[in-house]
Amino acid sequence: MTDKIVPRGAFTSKFGIVAAAAGSAVGLGNIWRFPYVAGENGGGAFLLIYIGFILTIGMSVMLAEFIIGRRAQKNALGSFKKLAPGKPWWIVGFMGIVAAFVILAFYSTIAGWTFEYLIQAIGNGFAGKDAGAISQMFTDFQTSTTRPLLWQLVFMVLTAGIIVCGVQKGIEKYTKMLMPLLVLLIIIMCIRSLTLPGASEGVNFLFKPDFSKISGKVILEALGQSFFSMSIGMGALITYGSYIQKNNKLPNTTFQVAMADTVIAILAGVMIFPAVFAFNMEPDAGTGLVFQVLPNIFTEMPGGYIFAVMFFLLLSVAALTSTISVLEVVVAYGIEELNLSRKKATIIFTSAIAVLGVFATLSFSELSEFKIFGHTIFGSLDWLSANLLLPLGGVFIVIFLGWVLGKKAIVDEVTNNGQIKMRFLRVFIFILKYIAPVAIVLVFLNAIGVLG
Ligand code: TRP
Repeated sequence: MTDKIVPRGAFTSKFGIVAAAAGSAVGLGNIWRFPYVAGENGGGAFLLIYIGFILTIGMSVMLAEFIIGRRAQKNALGSFKKLAPGKPWWIVGFMGIVAAFVILAFYSTIAGWTFEYLIQAIGNGFAGKDAGAISQMFTDFQTSTTRPLLWQLVFMVLTAGIIVCGVQKGIEKYTKMLMPLLVLLIIIMCIRSLTLPGASEGVNFLFKPDFSKISGKVILEALGQSFFSMSIGMGALITYGSYIQKNNKLPNTTFQVAMADTVIAILAGVMIFPAVFAFNMEPDAGTGLVFQVLPNIFTEMPGGYIFAVMFFLLLSVAALTSTISVLEVVVAYGIEELNLSRKKATIIFTSAIAVLGVFATLSFSELSEFKIFGHTIFGSLDWLSANLLLPLGGVFIVIFLGWVLGKKAIVDEVTNNGQIKMRFLRVFIFILKYIAPVAIVLVFLNAIGVLG
């Protein structure tokens, strides 16, 4: 199987694709973004809505992307061109490419922070510091300008390096081993966090929904977070879908990836929030939340040094397996649509994204006063991608599959041309055609206040 010649690259095993897609889904979105967004949006009620979106719209969009990609055997933009020739659907693919630029630009800032923290952990930099000193350390780093930029650059170069070698060679190997290890570490840290004095307040915050906290904004943030965390809405999974073999059971893959992603986000919440309250911090501290909280957990646990080093190392890997899926969207487009070599496409696009990324990173220092509608550049990129570009992409993806490609294509792909049974076929098609597009549009309208 492995040495079979596959013309445009393919994952070599069933586990390979689950590992790669889970590697894409699981990343800073789960461990950094989920806690910070949940913390800003009221905790428990947010979590409930978030899970609701994953189980309905999220899994449907994920499966839809796999189907489109595997059917077309093309990049995100080329898939639409091939399946709907002469129609403007390729614009959806183009939106995905724009989203990839936006996401990578700000994601690499945070990935850079994890490198800094890895180095701090190796140098035993958290030892003997109390919560105040640890917060100060974060602020000092953020405002130091050159270090965050340097780490961001390192991260971009690493992402590009893996992409030059080709996705399947890069990811399969690492994710298979390292992801389960990351989960194990998180579980150990959850235990420490839960046993801190005052931890129960954090548990209540995350699991006791306060329904008075729900607003149009909170619902949109939950939708955006579900899309961001699952890597859906911009064609990353269309691109990966095009590398999936014909005999893979797409619905099963979807379910496994979605579950892994959700469980890890919830675990991240269980790791962070009890500690937030135990150390008298604020859950709505924003983008710095996990970086200000985590070191406190390490200083309070036996073997904290080694746990800290391993944790930030694995978090960096998790970030990498996510960013390669984003960069691959753009590079696969460059190769197939612009006839660039893999290497050229990687260099050109990575450089362009890195330029935008500099502005994202500087939002925390030199450019912190520069605001667009009240958001810094970083905040705007973060908000724009998760809460607008991805859900909008999702609307078009489900409409495309449900109404344009149609039932036969769907049935062919989910049943592998009639070889396997699909249990929820009717439900899936109904969500694709009606529920998902209407629900997403309603969430938008509600958030901007049109529904009152
Ligand atoms: N889902 C990843 C995370 O949680 C980030 C990511 C990777 C992503 N590929 C994506 C987000 C595509 C949106 C679209 O860290």
